[in-house]
Amino acid sequence: MKKKIKISVVGIGLMGSQHLKAISISKKAKLHSIVDINHKSKLIAKKLRVPFYKTSNDLIKNNKPDAVIVATPNQFHEKHTISFLNAKIPVLLEKPISSNIKKAQKIINSSKKNKTHLLIGYHRRHNSIVSNVKKKIQTGKIGKIVAGNVMCWLYKNKQWFNEKWRIKKGGGPLGINLVHDIDLICYLLGPVDYVQASSSNKIRKYKVEDTAIVNFSFRSGALCTLSVSDTIVAPWSYELTAGENPAYPITNQSAYYIGGTKGSIQFPNLKNWYNKGERSWWKPIYHKDMNIRLSRYTLINQINHLCDVVNGKAKPKVTGEDGLQSLKIFAAILKSSKSGKKIKLN
Ligand SMILES: NC(=O)c1ccc[n+]([C@@H]2O[C@H](COP(=O)([O-])OP(=O)(O)OC[C@H]3O[C@@H](n4cnc5c(N)ncnc54)[C@H](O)[C@@H]3O)[C@@H](O)[C@H]2O)c1
Repeated sequence: MKKKIKISVVGIGLMGSQHLKAISISKKAKLHSIVDINHKSKLIAKKLRVPFYKTSNDLIKNNKPDAVIVATPNQFHEKHTISFLNAKIPVLLEKPISSNIKKAQKIINSSKKNKTHLLIGYHRRHNSIVSNVKKKIQTGKIGKIVAGNVMCWLYKNKQWFNEKWRIKKGGGPLGINLVHDIDLICYLLGPVDYVQASSSNKIRKYKVEDTAIVNFSFRSGALCTLSVSDTIVAPWSYELTAGENPAYPITNQSAYYIGGTKGSIQFPNLKNWYNKGERSWWKPIYHKDMNIRLSRYTLINQINHLCDVVNGKAKPKVTGEDGLQSLKIFAAILKSSKSGKKIKLN
């Protein structure tokens, strides 16, 4: 039997705990240790019978793993990730890559200088439905891509806002929810040329936005609108349609609509729409249900991918540069939502 990749998880909060579950299911990985400043995590380490360390340096000095997952709060990403990269330990870093662009660049430079892999945790790219859509677009199945429409409409209940950071700058649905959609649509449609956005806090009246509309012009010429709100009772969001996280009820709807000159695709409830023979709005339009099951395995796929990267069998699917680009797009969205102006990305 092949040797399992030994992974240490740094930061056992909401996301770190999900990674622990994924590692326990993966056939390629094994939990090496846990790092956290919180005493509660020591008990988890004891239960899972793995060593516990209070700092990244303690782990590096005592017992080097094959790879680490950094799932600490964003402001610590730079410090933790660079210490592992300097020790030549590959890192899967939770999104966003960092809280600012300068720090993100430092992380990327460290990965290059140390010739050590850096992967960013935009896990949706590891969903088999997404891979299928990407293939359909790349092979020209729906022709030249003309437009996209991405919906992220949710209703967050009262308790969600008990955490005060969620009603301050950065804690709104643009930063919490839409960042995943931004990464995903860019993965599917390519580099963004221009961004234009507007946001509103008219429903909840907190300082942070509750609703926003973002328009992308892609370098390919395609146009796309993304809309996000945490004040709408609706089934149309990736969270409620992809079935990746059992915390959300599944609605069997779609959140992404991508249109091309030969047809269109909706997903996660994956359908491919097309005319038979002549393309015309006067002709019947058909759809093929593409037989891909909803995936609860995205995080496990991501762990398996990390193991393949460590073993030299794959290149990182989501690189530091991808993480930096997402951060730049996000900064442009925030800037544009204040001025209403269109912003060019480099
Ligand atoms: N991919 C996703 O869908 C997704 C979802 C949620 C969060 N995240 C990301 O995961 C990261 C963590 O978010 P979360 O919601 O799990 O946070 P959290 O607050 O639930 O957990 C953070 C953990 O890090 C620990 N920690 C804090 N400072 C530390 C330090 N200096 N050294 C070691 N451990 C430390 C805390 O004790 C806690 O256990 C963030 O970057 C966030 O953006 C990603």
